[in-house]
Amino acid sequence: MITYKDGVFHLSTKDTSYVMGVFEGKLLNLYWGEKLNFVPELSKMLPIDYFRTFSSTDVIDSDGEKFSTNDFTMEYPDYGRGDYRISAFEGKDFEGTTASNLKFDSYEIVDGKYSIPKMPAIYSEEKDNVKTLKIYLRDEYSNLKVTLLYGVFEDLNVITRAATFKNEGSEAYTIEKAFSLSVDFNCKELDFIHLSGAWARERVPHRRRVVAGTQQVESIYGISSHIHNPFFALVSPDATETMGDAYGFNLVYSGNFIAGAQKDCFDVTRAYLGIHPTGFSWVLAPGEEFYTPEAVTVYSANGIGEMSRKFHKIYRTRLCRGKYRDIKRPILINNWEATYFDFNEEKILKITEAAAELGVELMVLDDGWFGKRDKENCSLGDWIPDTRKLPNGIKGLAEKVNGYGLKFGLWFEPEMISPDSDLYRAHPDWCLHQCDRERTLGRSQYILDLCREEICDFVKGALDNILSTGLVSYVKWDMNRYMSEVGSPAFSKEHQGEIAHRYLIGLYGIMEYITKKYPDVLFEGCSGGGGRFDPGILHYMPQIWTSDDTDALERIDIQYGTSICYPYSAMGAHVSAVPNHQVYRTTPMKLRGDVAICGQLGYELDLAKLTDADKEEVKKQIAAYHKLSDVFHNGDLYRLITPDNSDVAANQFISEDESTVAVCIYIKRARPNNSFKFVKLLNLDKNALYVDEKGNEFSGDYLMHFGFKISANKDYDSKIIVLNKK
Ligand code: GLA
Repeated sequence: MITYKDGVFHLSTKDTSYVMGVFEGKLLNLYWGEKLNFVPELSKMLPIDYFRTFSSTDVIDSDGEKFSTNDFTMEYPDYGRGDYRISAFEGKDFEGTTASNLKFDSYEIVDGKYSIPKMPAIYSEEKDNVKTLKIYLRDEYSNLKVTLLYGVFEDLNVITRAATFKNEGSEAYTIEKAFSLSVDFNCKELDFIHLSGAWARERVPHRRRVVAGTQQVESIYGISSHIHNPFFALVSPDATETMGDAYGFNLVYSGNFIAGAQKDCFDVTRAYLGIHPTGFSWVLAPGEEFYTPEAVTVYSANGIGEMSRKFHKIYRTRLCRGKYRDIKRPILINNWEATYFDFNEEKILKITEAAAELGVELMVLDDGWFGKRDKENCSLGDWIPDTRKLPNGIKGLAEKVNGYGLKFGLWFEPEMISPDSDLYRAHPDWCLHQCDRERTLGRSQYILDLCREEICDFVKGALDNILSTGLVSYVKWDMNRYMSEVGSPAFSKEHQGEIAHRYLIGLYGIMEYITKKYPDVLFEGCSGGGGRFDPGILHYMPQIWTSDDTDALERIDIQYGTSICYPYSAMGAHVSAVPNHQVYRTTPMKLRGDVAICGQLGYELDLAKLTDADKEEVKKQIAAYHKLSDVFHNGDLYRLITPDNSDVAANQFISEDESTVAVCIYIKRARPNNSFKFVKLLNLDKNALYVDEKGNEFSGDYLMHFGFKISANKDYDSKIIVLNKK
């Protein structure tokens, strides 16, 4: 799986190879793609005549020949010494010197997967076929030791990456940029795919050709953000869902990031991913070490669909943790869109009663249950039940909800502090801020300074107070603003560039503590909908509220974009009222259910007010969910017709044991005298027979080559076809 021979590292998984070489002390990036059974010695992999006609810097090799790092494909490019492309790392020694020369020192291969202290990462379990490669590089000028970490997952076909920086010199060293990876692609035409959007319109796939220069997406919002996701893919221009090369990159991080591709004058494309250098620096005292966040990389020779499935599988099984990773999660009712802040115990119990009759399993009380929170402008930090609304407190309400046979869950926004709160009046310096600069509000609130241990302890205590009662089975962990004036009075001026990252370390520490201490509680991440839908959060919370937009049509698009990297098991998906509260569209209850059912199903409307017909529909949805959730959440996804530029969308899920196939078909827009659409299935057993719920039999090859014929002449029509292998 990992070999080192004649100056060549070969990392291989079941279907892929990744090759690096050590040339004149520098680590070269040589190959990434389909598995190579044989990799020759380094000299055979270098260009036969490696000199370019013009190179502005000369490095002399041991034969006295000239070469330049600018001409080569580099593995972790340093800065200031002749590689003029985007560097993976930049730093400054105590004299302000910035040029670095990272030279190969040694390596180590160990069993299992490395971990990253205090940070989320993919893990391995004992029986897994996983190895770690550590490559040690040294900057001869500053005595900075850089370790490149590679986690090679043989069966899952994934390589994870990270880098560490240890100051082995005798003076302070300041890191100013530290990417998690850099990969050079040799002479390839590539397309850049990224997931960009906005609040309530998250993760829309965008695709464009990589051209000379840089194309990148980024966040300096302090969270991974609604605007861009820390994911991108480079794919061959001919790549589709089912064919072509697809290289996927995703950062296991919930904060500022940069992700991009730079094409140079030799048509080499450099991909890079890591913490955004804007506003970032990290001072390493002698002996100290810094770890980058982890990046997950996936290669597929069979298109974008297979790339997605590789991400889905490793995220479901080796990123998410805890008991809910493996068991079915409860169907919930959330009161937010039913009541907003205007609720009391009686209203909540009415909704609960209706939910109980329909078979819902968990009642979630959203924002507004604490302090004096009748609006969004106060009380964050005062996590004390509001007895005006809940005269019997959380205890009284939770017990009554349990009496209806439902579990009880609560909304929190633990990272926040409202200026109008007892907490802020007691601790006006507890928010992130910069000296005496004005503190900018976002949604009328500030962000707690989680770089400070005593503040993290306060947050843990506030959650402990409620969770230790054992009454709460579910927590929705929200985060509703972007960061500004990112600073902390607890750190000296040299360390202010560390605050955004230290915040994340503090946050992850709280999440680790709380989720470990309350293993029976189901946690759902949220950030104004999907503003922090990233693998960092998924390490602690197995599901995330996908978007505040619950309109069925919008959700077809949002869930599609999200599925490019993340599994349906991670997507909170609710049926809400019509006209929809975000786009005012009216869609049938059946469509709303058929869209939400693929994710973690919930309802977010006043169920007591439903018509009898809608109640019957909800009962059908819940019954179908019990039957199919394992297929949607643990099976493989095939996007048969993607909703971009199409009036029809269709997804296929195949259960892990391949016995059940669910095909979800949505008509986004009907047209008169429409042409027929064929929904052709993928990856079935061509010789097997598949039986639908009415007893009709189809052969695998028929379903793959003819499929289902759709006339698409009814707006917002939808179908879920279930086939069982005979
Ligand atoms: C955010 C969430 C919503 C809801 C509100 C409550 O916007 O995404 O689902 O919880 O906060 O204020």
